Amino acid sequence: MCGIVGYIGFKDAKEILLNGLEKLEYRGYDSAGIAIRNEKDVHVFKEKGRIADLRKIVDTHINAATGIGHTRWATHGVPSTENAHPHQSLSGRFTLVHNGVIENYEQLKKEYLLDVPLKSDTDTEVIVQLIEIFVNEGLDTEAAFRKTLHLLKGSYALGLLDKEKAETIFVAKNKSPLLIGLGNGFNVIASDAMAMIQVTDQFVELMDKEMVIVTKEKVTIKSLNDEEIERAPYTAELDAGDIEKGTYPHYMLKEIDEQPLVMRKIIQAYQNDQGKLTVDENIVQALQEADRLYIVACGTSYHAGLVGKQYLETIAKIPTEVHVASEFVYNMPLLSEKPLFVFISQSGETADSRAVLVKVKELGYQALTITNVQGSTLSREADYTLLLHAGPEIAVASTKAYTAQISVLSILANATAETRGIKPEFDLIHELGIVANAMEVLCDTKDEFEQIARDYLSTTRNCFFIGRSIDYYVGLEGALKLKEISYIQAEGFAGGELKHGTIALIEEGTPVIALATQENVNLSIRGNVKEVTARGANPCIISMKGLESEDDRFVIPAVHELFTPLVAVIPTQLIAYYAALHRDCDVDKPRNLAKSVTVE
Ligand code: G6P
Repeated sequence: MCGIVGYIGFKDAKEILLNGLEKLEYRGYDSAGIAIRNEKDVHVFKEKGRIADLRKIVDTHINAATGIGHTRWATHGVPSTENAHPHQSLSGRFTLVHNGVIENYEQLKKEYLLDVPLKSDTDTEVIVQLIEIFVNEGLDTEAAFRKTLHLLKGSYALGLLDKEKAETIFVAKNKSPLLIGLGNGFNVIASDAMAMIQVTDQFVELMDKEMVIVTKEKVTIKSLNDEEIERAPYTAELDAGDIEKGTYPHYMLKEIDEQPLVMRKIIQAYQNDQGKLTVDENIVQALQEADRLYIVACGTSYHAGLVGKQYLETIAKIPTEVHVASEFVYNMPLLSEKPLFVFISQSGETADSRAVLVKVKELGYQALTITNVQGSTLSREADYTLLLHAGPEIAVASTKAYTAQISVLSILANATAETRGIKPEFDLIHELGIVANAMEVLCDTKDEFEQIARDYLSTTRNCFFIGRSIDYYVGLEGALKLKEISYIQAEGFAGGELKHGTIALIEEGTPVIALATQENVNLSIRGNVKEVTARGANPCIISMKGLESEDDRFVIPAVHELFTPLVAVIPTQLIAYYAALHRDCDVDKPRNLAKSVTVE
């Protein structure tokens, strides 16, 4: 949710900033801006739209070796040039970029800024005006910045330029992610290492309520009480090639295709020297000691959690609940005596999930985070972390992270079962290997799914996904994917539930995509298909080898019945992809969305 970058050094800052912002567009893309500082002045360029639009208005003749940049996902104020960052103070001396939400900005406005004409509707502008006010009252920039930070309630990652201190970028962080990148004769700031991996792989993490004075030679981290903090850098293990599209037209298609490879990487990452799938024994012990697991997640990760519950209960026999994070924090269920919380989050930054984590830590409970991003907030703040090893996922619509989450959950359930003395009914490595092969077959069958998208979804207003048992969960994810990127109104339903109301929406030609991969409900889901067909629906049955019937539109290769979500989801991902393409939608950057949602 909004991305920020900064550079201070000796090279042309604008190119580094623009390239960095392009890598952060997944965090928001409704407007963008940069501020660059040369010997003479600070030059600000802002534009509504994408980084590509911003590029067009940046004056290429200005060379500057210091700058900050921002790509926005609007929270306060509509997407517009005025509301785009950077924001400047009244005199133009201070220039600021911000990722996060200042909850008390209205109050600060009333208390300090009644005489200041504000140019935007943003909460951010309040920060930069406050800094100038405190400087006008006699504080130096660092002290004014610190005083302002003490007043702010909410989340922020900030980059500040002072026209009169050309050699410094002032930085601060609370709740929103921010890293400092170290270089030779230069330093950078970024919301995500991905933005600056082209210039450095050495990064320093920042903790909440820290501020940093960044010059081209030095990085000084301080607490808000002005105490210096030493922190060693780490090497970001990110291959610059991982974040390029290569020959693919869209990141989403590349990431769908990567799923078999990710599956094999996960098997490798969790295999010990004896070739067995294992999980850190402290984590397994924490699961063993818990009397109930509470999975907390949002969006696609929530859907992966639903499948995970099935594994934890069926394989490891631990009672498990799955909750939507944004609801859980304000409407907590009665907890068991020894709960363990499991946070599932691709980014590890989702504010709704983090709010729950903060709350359960306050209550003294233990938490495990399953995430794709090592060192992310949810990973740092939980007691334990399991990594997805999916590589960077850049398309806003999550694909490979979903299958990676389910795979890691299966490994966790399996390892816990073994430690509890429950003999698994299958060899997990073998079953996941079969899954990887089946995924490959599906990724090689794209034409079929393109045709399904053409036949069913070219002109439709809505679409239903139905399934029973574990297929129902895949239907929820399939519907989310379709609505996210094609804007077709899509809903996932339990096959048996449709007749209790929603069947009223079935009209002549309404597409109903039915998933039929489970033997015990095969007949009943087909019965549900008949019900909707009798009312005019256009059914598209996706079944599994061994359960197929002659009406089926597509038959996926057979895998173990517990692991069908890992393969059945691929047709739904590809159907959504092609439906969006046929409708001329921006597949990788759908309207109104952002990948990393760092506001509640
Ligand atoms: C956003 C994204 C979704 C994602 C959800 C949870 O809403 O658009 O694709 O599933 O956040 O993100 P997380 O990083 O916590 O898995």
